[in-house]
Amino acid sequence: MSERPRVWVSQPLFADVLARLGEHFEVEATREVTRHEPAAVNAILRRMDGALVTLNDPIGAEQIAGAQRLRAIANVGVGYNNLDIAALSAAGILASNTPDVLTETTADFGFALMMAAARRMSEAERWLRDGQWQRWSFDSLLGADVHGATLAILGMGRIGQAIARRATGFGMRTLYHNRSRLPAAVEAECKAQYVGFDELLARADHLVLVLPYSPQSHHLIDAAALAKLRPHATLTNIARGGIVDEDALCDALEHDRLGAAGLDVYEGEPRLNPRLLQQRRVVLTPHIASGSLATRRAMVALAVDNLIAALGFGPRAGDPPS
Ligand code: DGY
Repeated sequence: MSERPRVWVSQPLFADVLARLGEHFEVEATREVTRHEPAAVNAILRRMDGALVTLNDPIGAEQIAGAQRLRAIANVGVGYNNLDIAALSAAGILASNTPDVLTETTADFGFALMMAAARRMSEAERWLRDGQWQRWSFDSLLGADVHGATLAILGMGRIGQAIARRATGFGMRTLYHNRSRLPAAVEAECKAQYVGFDELLARADHLVLVLPYSPQSHHLIDAAALAKLRPHATLTNIARGGIVDEDALCDALEHDRLGAAGLDVYEGEPRLNPRLLQQRRVVLTPHIASGSLATRRAMVALAVDNLIAALGFGPRAGDPPS
């Protein structure tokens, strides 16, 4: 009987999913959330046929050097900026991600975060817990309306479209900007109008970032972009932290050039820019937009399916026929 493929699981996983993996593979599982050093990952991957990794795990040339057996990396997440696709492709290693299964859950969260920022929910809760609430008053903690406002979506993939569909129920006007314009039928279904980047910023009441992170989108929302937003506007980021220049964001908030922000992702996460923690008008969450139990289970299940499909597939791409 031939040896079963060996698979590394980089972060702790649901027990039943590990058991399912164990039906197909020899599994080396990580028991605690770990920030693995590149050299340690490299040493592990040299023994593996496949790996199930998350956005915590950068996988590039350094990690896969000499990993002769490695045929597949399954990333749990739709974003895959932690993977160096060029290095993996050059080595003939298949890479997969988990789109679709998290779309609606992530859109729910993006919408909720935008509303929480607009209505100052975190600030209000901190104020209440601090015992500062003396009596109801007309003018405390006033926020911005979401219903009837202009929603500006930057990045109109599946999640952006799902957010736009939610906005129709709130009577919002939805503008979007994307690498390419959507087909007219999709625009009609989402009731969303395509505009240029500058116009998107200038007209936004609530700007939501849902675009992929890449060298092109690094610090796309910098001081110059923030200056194009109106002072009452809110900024919500559920994409990747590196898209926003966090110091410029703090400057804008501190000088009342931005209404509020809702952030689920951070440039150096899990380390936070200390200035963000000082801001009153921000809602900060720890990268949980896809974090419903059902969706996280679906993401992991899809990643496992991807791994099974990839490793059942025969030799590594580019290997000579046996
Ligand atoms: C993703 O899927 O890319 C998220 O950021 C993690 O859920």
